Amino acid sequence: MPPGQCLSVEAEDIGIALCNVGGTIYALDNCCPHAGGPLGEGFIDGDCVECPWHGWRYNVKTGERLENPQIKVDCYAVHVEGDAIQVDVP
Ligand code: FES
Repeated sequence: MPPGQCLSVEAEDIGIALCNVGGTIYALDNCCPHAGGPLGEGFIDGDCVECPWHGWRYNVKTGERLENPQIKVDCYAVHVEGDAIQVDVP
């Protein structure tokens, strides 16, 4: 997963969007609050991931929607050990 890419994965039956921003991996809820688009199939733009369906953008560090921070997706702590990406899911 090189910088500037994201990926949809599942952990404990929870859909997770992994986003690599500048070499740091962030994990967010994969389900866009607008209409359920898969954020892990979206596009990285600076510190944001853009939903592939209609373009809503979320800060990967806070989960806040750029255009309206009152709309958020959950963020999860990430630990990288060697090649393994571990995500703390609730
Ligand atoms: S489903 Fe994500 S912007 Fe519409």
